[in-house]
Amino acid sequence: MAQPAMDGTTIAYACLALLAAHLLAKWYMDPLRRIPTVGGPSLPLLSYLAARKFARSSDEVLQEGYDKYQGTAFKVAMPNRWLVVVSGPEGVEDIRRRPDSDLSIVDGFNELFQTELILGKDLNENRWHVDVIKSSLTRNLPSILPELLDELPHAVQDNIRCEDGWAAVNILPTMINTVARLSSRVFVGLPLCRTEPYLRLAIRFTAARMKDANIMKLIPPILRPIAVPFLNNSRSALVEARTFMEPLIQARRADMERFGPDWQNRPNDLLQWYLEEATERGTPDEAVPARVFVTNFAAIHTSALSIASALYDLAAHPESVAPLRAEVEQITTSDGWTKAALEKMWKVDSFLRESQRSKTVARFALTRVATKDMTLVDGTFIPRGTLITAAIAPAHRDQKHYQCADVFDPFRFSRAREETGIGATQAFTHTSGKWLAFGHGKHACPGRFFAADELKALLAYMVMNYDVKLDGTQQRASTLVDAVRSKILVRKRKAG
Ligand code: HEM
Repeated sequence: MAQPAMDGTTIAYACLALLAAHLLAKWYMDPLRRIPTVGGPSLPLLSYLAARKFARSSDEVLQEGYDKYQGTAFKVAMPNRWLVVVSGPEGVEDIRRRPDSDLSIVDGFNELFQTELILGKDLNENRWHVDVIKSSLTRNLPSILPELLDELPHAVQDNIRCEDGWAAVNILPTMINTVARLSSRVFVGLPLCRTEPYLRLAIRFTAARMKDANIMKLIPPILRPIAVPFLNNSRSALVEARTFMEPLIQARRADMERFGPDWQNRPNDLLQWYLEEATERGTPDEAVPARVFVTNFAAIHTSALSIASALYDLAAHPESVAPLRAEVEQITTSDGWTKAALEKMWKVDSFLRESQRSKTVARFALTRVATKDMTLVDGTFIPRGTLITAAIAPAHRDQKHYQCADVFDPFRFSRAREETGIGATQAFTHTSGKWLAFGHGKHACPGRFFAADELKALLAYMVMNYDVKLDGTQQRASTLVDAVRSKILVRKRKAG
């Protein structure tokens, strides 16, 4: 007797069963399965629940993993892949020590920002702007400080309007505008740093790049090259950036040719250093605006969030104002507003660092991709291609590293400096396995010394020239997002 032919429903069920078996087998064979998952289930498909939880409550999930697996790695789900997170200083030091040929920062950043597909292979792989920031910008900090200080009052006064007494100020947008302008003074100089549409674009580029990257990550890798032409937010911003910068670059080129290498009055800014580096590398000038804009991407929002958070803390802790004012007044009276004076402002430095500690700006540091199979210091095996990182906030709130870690103690780091006489390890810019605000090791944030000068000068200026307070009805914010979304009351300080 002839067997009845399988109907469509049976075929569909058979296919589904095969797919489920395939996913289960893949999951079972995956070496990452052995690494504990935090935030939800790790089973195929169900792991999307974990990814949803991680997207909505990243900080809570990371803290839970850190507390539960102290010292060993755990993993969290992202929509497109697993992220392995090391916890504890040994895990961080393990990542730091490994060479780029084992753990690739280029691939790590590319995974986060999808740079190669969206902005091109050159920008992703030849990160010479990092070397220029590390060398020229950092070396020239004393000579650019006068420029920064010249811009400071204009940048603040144009963004904080409080001529008639107390004014409610949205701190984050105000500080984004202020920092964009201050940084641009050092990155591209006058008059571009005061050109509103240019500044709007420099600020908008961050959101545009993140939007493109986040959409790209939701698309299966094989289809991404097809999707690229439709993701145009950051590339169109760069086209606009070129139109702003082209006349300036042409004028600089003309002067470079006219005066040659001995050009005495060459501009002392990042654009000039980038142009000189581009000349040496034979890189065309058209590529330089993108370098300035990826620097804006790294510099503006990170620094603005840091100072916005510090200003919130200042308003929430009025008892810190007098010691800060006394320090700034005493040091600037004896040393003037110099780089050496900024170095001596331990309390200002400590305030910024404590603000970073209690409300960390960046979520991850030392994000890398494994280029080979390896076993981490805690015995965790990770296969080639694994995305690995360190979570910053839980390390900064670890009671083992900080006494009364839950308390905002503005001068904990300056006190430690005074008590131990050891300055460098307590400074805002210092990095270690326990202090990750700027990453750690050879790839730690190259702009942190500039950020420290900019933010210390800005905080010192605010303290000396303005009063800040919370509106009496406000609830105290405990997270970075709540703090920087608040309004604080600001007024010009009365003379004397
Ligand atoms: C308070 C402000 C800032 C914070 C919190 C911050 C934080 C960070 C962090 C966490 C990293 C990743 C390090 C790692 O993965 O190990 C990083 C990288 C980077 N930062 Fe910053 N940053 C700040 C300001 C700046 C500024 C002002 C600049 C430029 C002048 C800058 C330029 C960069 C660059 C170019 C990288 C990539 C480094 C590389 O590719 O090797 N950052 N930053």
